[in-house]
Amino acid sequence: MFFRYLVLFVSISFTLFAKAQSSAGPIINFEHRALPVVHRHGMVAAAEKHAAEAGVAMLKKGGNAVDAAVATGFALAVTHPTAGNLAGGGFMLLDIDGKSTFIDYRETAPRAAHRDMYLKPDGSVDQHLAYMSRQSAGVPGTVAGLVYALEKYGRLSLAEVIRPAIDLARKGFVVDYALASGIERRNRYAPWADTEAKRIFLAEDGAFLQPGDHLIQQDLAWTLKQIKRDGADAFYRGKVAQRFVADMEANNGLITAQDLTDYRVVEREPLSGQFLDFEIVSAPPPSSGGVHILQMLNILELAPLTEFGHNSAKYIHYLAEAMKRAYADRSRYLGDPQYFKVPLDELISKQYGKKLFQRIDPNKASAAEQIRPGEAMLAESPDTTHYSVVDGEGNVVSNTYTLNFSYGSGIVVKGTGMLLNNEMGDFSARPGHPNPYGLLGGKANAIEPGKRPLSSMSPTIVYRDGKPWLSTGSPGGSVIITTVLQTILNAMLFDHNIAAAAMLPRVHHQWYPDELRVEYGVSPDTVRLLQDMGHSLKQSKRTMGRTHSIMLDPGFAENGGYLYGASDARRPGGAVAGY
Ligand code: GLY
Repeated sequence: MFFRYLVLFVSISFTLFAKAQSSAGPIINFEHRALPVVHRHGMVAAAEKHAAEAGVAMLKKGGNAVDAAVATGFALAVTHPTAGNLAGGGFMLLDIDGKSTFIDYRETAPRAAHRDMYLKPDGSVDQHLAYMSRQSAGVPGTVAGLVYALEKYGRLSLAEVIRPAIDLARKGFVVDYALASGIERRNRYAPWADTEAKRIFLAEDGAFLQPGDHLIQQDLAWTLKQIKRDGADAFYRGKVAQRFVADMEANNGLITAQDLTDYRVVEREPLSGQFLDFEIVSAPPPSSGGVHILQMLNILELAPLTEFGHNSAKYIHYLAEAMKRAYADRSRYLGDPQYFKVPLDELISKQYGKKLFQRIDPNKASAAEQIRPGEAMLAESPDTTHYSVVDGEGNVVSNTYTLNFSYGSGIVVKGTGMLLNNEMGDFSARPGHPNPYGLLGGKANAIEPGKRPLSSMSPTIVYRDGKPWLSTGSPGGSVIITTVLQTILNAMLFDHNIAAAAMLPRVHHQWYPDELRVEYGVSPDTVRLLQDMGHSLKQSKRTMGRTHSIMLDPGFAENGGYLYGASDARRPGGAVAGY
């Protein structure tokens, strides 16, 4: 019996493989020991299954990748409250009908915000105020961003794409291990304190929800229904705005009705650059992601990385040296471009990459103090979520959005079911001093009314032969940029399939603190060689980043073929759905 099943399995696998081979060339590298999910007509890779399925349901009813992305975005606000949100912000990178564009729906500082608003009389940062209070909230951009994307680039109605989120909130869904453990984990570093949040995310007796429990969110369903009826106006001017402002007024919050009505999405030109035969398109400021991914690729293009071999000591040495230089520049030159002139062209120029490359000693680590921002030329959090969507026509959406910390400030806006972001913590509260993630920020990212805080969110699309080939992105605050860098290098240089590219151990250096973090899986021999070169190694207790990526067969838009999805297994709960 067992043998018959084995034969059947082998023959099905072979047929599938042979089909992929015959229709679209060699695709999956089986030797890489991690396999992507494969579909033909459309795919969503996201942090949670119901939300990924909500997106696929839109594709099946004739929607495009944007419809699916908006449905997934609303649904994640219900099923993945650690980062999915209505009262946060993010970035959406699209390749739609052969053109790329970037929708910036990052939060803005309220009008009452000012540079020293989180400083105590002794000059230190009031951590509670900066991260755990209503004053840590930026004016949310998510609802404006999702509705903007849908109206400009989608095909379905708001009622259709928001429906799955409303159903998930109203009827509830079964809590899985990822959600249950996430709620408990947050309690370890920031105990649940807000009454509304406890009412929603803890059981009635105050115990933690368990896998298998049912989570219904009636207030959130109400909010979603207002948005369904009145569009983004519900959130920025209508009934949701009224509850939002009442909550702020009752609790010393800064966001006013005027702040909400003033909020604007900005559509920007994405950043792009060349690495060998690939074109990389990524997030422009106020994200630092695209700038530094391109800057590091410009440096690394000049090193014989494939000769060194993946994750060899030499390979990691060059990565670390490039990372230090990029993060040094980040601390000085990156901020909201409407408030600070970011020297974009210089930072991503090949000449500058070459100058930085020439300063790397092939055998010796440079100490962080030897590197100055701007030689030759700031702040976030570990939780955020990224998802990728591709439709049957080859349109691609790469979306990263966030509440900043896991569950934001942990405060739910009364009567709305919405968790509040603490994105103001991404400004440099005290220029020149590290934030809780060790990132240094300068004047470029100082707090100013209306300004967008600097971000690392890096939704990215890699092009091959001029066509979208890979969509990826990650949460992780400061490690987002290096996570995306290594994921795309794994695919571009070493031909790893997207699941293997996601899985391989990663390293991270951010200039300060002067330490090279390595994930489990980098060999002890390699670690010793790196130490001999002078790197100060730190075995990371936490994994770094969590990508949700999709790869497309060459010519997918024109000739069809396959889509390959991978949810990075570093954290529980991810899903790739498709058909
Ligand atoms: N709050 C995370 C980021 O914007 O990078």
